[in-house]
Amino acid sequence: MKSSVPIYRRLTLALLFASALSLAASIALAAEPDQRALDPEVLKDVATYEKAMGTDHGLTPDKIQKLANAMNESPVFKNKFLGIWTVQTPSDAWIIMEIMHEVKPDLIIEAGTFHGGSSALWAIILEHINPDGRIVTIDIEDQRERKAKELPIVKEKVDFLLGSSTDPKVVAQARKHAEGKKRVLVLLDSLHSKKHVAAELEAYAPMVSVGSYIIVQDTPLGPKAAIDDFLETNKSYIADRKRERYPDTNSVRGYIKRIKP
Ligand SMILES: C[S@@+](CC[C@H](N)C(=O)[O-])C[C@H]1O[C@@H](n2cnc3c(N)ncnc32)[C@H](O)[C@@H]1O
Repeated sequence: MKSSVPIYRRLTLALLFASALSLAASIALAAEPDQRALDPEVLKDVATYEKAMGTDHGLTPDKIQKLANAMNESPVFKNKFLGIWTVQTPSDAWIIMEIMHEVKPDLIIEAGTFHGGSSALWAIILEHINPDGRIVTIDIEDQRERKAKELPIVKEKVDFLLGSSTDPKVVAQARKHAEGKKRVLVLLDSLHSKKHVAAELEAYAPMVSVGSYIIVQDTPLGPKAAIDDFLETNKSYIADRKRERYPDTNSVRGYIKRIKP
């Protein structure tokens, strides 16, 4: 049967439909942070590696390339929590959950939000440990996925601070959140360079309560050196090495416990 709609109108409708589809696709892509970053080529590049680990590592480009390749092959980079890309070593996430249960924090300060998966995980666990507990998560870039922002528990419990975790204004905002809180736990998972972690340790250590922890992640390179210097001069803290019971821990000497005021 011949359609009564003229050919030019049918063509116009088809074009409109196609543009609506492509607009919807680009809106969806813009709303969700770029999942294409999972493309193996992205992490294979030395500059990207240095963006995450800093440049003060003292390694040759060849060695960095090898580490970047190993990082790229790690299954950790494929982890998702509730469908949200989350860069956590499962065994360390487990230890963090145990520490949360023991400390029962009123506030968790997390440096390094990324897509928002880890703060969503901490929020859900915290709800069952200390229903009034809150989370402040900090990132120099807002890369949170829409589904991370829209989770009811995240809306209720998590405050996002945009800026560098060592920027005095950001530190002051975090300190304000910590004011009057009895038990404060700090997680450092932002830029993993010696200089940055040293500055984070200096800024956030005074906010941590006795019996609680600063947990430094991805320690093998720069952070480890920063931790050694920190422990040398801060006798109120010790590295709680019994927390490193999993051989694949990414927080070697990174479970730092405050043992006195
Ligand atoms: C390893 S990812 C964090 C992973 C996240 N905690 C998770 O479990 O999914 C590191 C994050 O630190 C952020 N970052 C880099 N430099 C920073 C800085 N100076 N201050 C705060 N965040 C920073 C990056 O933008 C990135 O999102």
